[in-house]
Amino acid sequence: MQATDRLIVAIDRSSRDDILRLADALHGVAGVFKLGLQAFVANGPSIVREVIARGAKVFLDLKVHDIPNTARHAVAEAASLGAAMVTVHASGGPTMLRACAVVSTGDSTGDSTLVLGVTVLTSLNDSELQRIGFAGTLRETGVRLARLAQDAGLRGVVASSHEVAAIREACGSEMCIVVPGIRPEGSEAGDQRRTMTPAAALAAGADYIVVGRPITGASDPRSAALALVDTLR
Ligand code: C5P
Repeated sequence: MQATDRLIVAIDRSSRDDILRLADALHGVAGVFKLGLQAFVANGPSIVREVIARGAKVFLDLKVHDIPNTARHAVAEAASLGAAMVTVHASGGPTMLRACAVVSTGDSTGDSTLVLGVTVLTSLNDSELQRIGFAGTLRETGVRLARLAQDAGLRGVVASSHEVAAIREACGSEMCIVVPGIRPEGSEAGDQRRTMTPAAALAAGADYIVVGRPITGASDPRSAALALVDTLR
């Protein structure tokens, strides 16, 4: 994979015009565009089709967490829209994960939909995790949820850069690991707590890095993305 293929840009915007302007500005400098709840709730499935129609791959980050039947149908709808990647919460449990895994027939480089299990949100810290009711540390919980996703048949997970190495060791080289919470040197962390630079995250074992505001909030998003990709070469 080229350095640009490893970059996923999170286009967290409500306005269709803003989303398409960013997708056009970033054409060819990122492998995948991530559309999340904000973009999807504001615009519906048409926004996914429109970005794909521009020749881009779309990661539809809906973080599905529901009963197995509902989750499976939501993932199937995302796949039929043409999303290259879609997320479900690994904490939805083994039955839900197995139901969602059957939708995925692809791998991390193929054309079919890669269903990713979200392990622990990169915005959480140990004390918040414990308040939710998880007994282990962030790392233990991340590894446990990644193994759960793998055992259920998922081929990829979303995890913090700080858990990548442990997850890589536990799940092996075939597991696709997508890492958000990426901050180039000198950029604002915002609400992200466990951040890492793009190059360090790849060195730790990430297959893809997800970058949002450091690129989409820059005065020149294309230059920001190009500068970031340069640090990966
Ligand atoms: O703007 P920023 O770079 O923080 O964007 C990160 C993106 O990755 C957001 O769209 C966020 O929803 C997503 N994400 C995350 N942590 C996860 C899963 C997804 O930050 N565990």
